[in-house]
Amino acid sequence: MSAHLRFEIADHVATLTLERPDKLNAMTPDMARGLVEAVATCNSSDEVRCLIVTGAGPKAFSAGSDISTLDAYATPWDFRNREDYCDALRACRKPVIAAINGYALGGGLETAMACDIRIASSSARFAAPEIKLGWIGGGGMAVGLAQSMGMSNAALMLFTGEMVTAEQALAWGLVSEVTSPQTLMPRAREVATQIAQRAPIAAETAKLNLRAAHQMPYEKAIEYERDLQAICFATEDAAEGRAAFAERRPPVFRRR
Ligand code: COA
Repeated sequence: MSAHLRFEIADHVATLTLERPDKLNAMTPDMARGLVEAVATCNSSDEVRCLIVTGAGPKAFSAGSDISTLDAYATPWDFRNREDYCDALRACRKPVIAAINGYALGGGLETAMACDIRIASSSARFAAPEIKLGWIGGGGMAVGLAQSMGMSNAALMLFTGEMVTAEQALAWGLVSEVTSPQTLMPRAREVATQIAQRAPIAAETAKLNLRAAHQMPYEKAIEYERDLQAICFATEDAAEGRAAFAERRPPVFRRR
């Protein structure tokens, strides 16, 4: 894995730290490849039930793509078809929490939006600054902003490139919670641990369902949800959940 990523698994929670603090955790192609590997491990390992993504150092979650690497592509088509770290993260089947400890800019903001739950430190700042450089985001910026905060707020961010505070991001629905810098990781771990204690197949299925709900007509979405519910209901874990409830004990889920 990339020297600029740290990946740890403990108590069913994986933590991926973007570790290039001297460059505000700006993403290199090498980090993008490492992220693909980390997500593949999360997807294939029964040990992982939730992933936390965060940035090293006090200043940044990630300041986006490393601008100095963007000229390395031989053609615009190669640039267009580059290995995208946001695609990699969206491919994670396990629930993903972004613990946003500082700047989340450009691809850093897209990385946070590729996660399912966003918790921010009060020091976090958000922006789509590509417009100041002469281009626009390409990892889900417009769709992610529009879905979370509505068209007007998204347009404000996209067209100005200006930074938004953690409090503003909370008011607009971009993040779920704002914590102090000190309590960010404990709170992210607390939520991850709660998720990790739930039935893993149901958690993964809830993620599938939530993603699909955005893209399907209403009635179809409910039909699909019912199919997913039936699949969950037929698992060994669901039988264990019902047995544990009847026996008044905590369930022991095995992702079966
Ligand atoms: N790509 C490459 N390097 C970056 C970077 C990026 N996206 N963002 C920051 N860095 C580097 C800086 O070049 C600097 O490196 P240096 O110390 O070798 O000169 C280091 O990270 C620290 O950044 P610096 O600009 O000195 O910090 P600051 O606190 O003065 O400013 C920002 C912080 C976030 C306002 C500023 O770094 C910035 O505008 N970054 C670009 C953000 C961006 O446009 N992202 C979208 C990219 S597509």
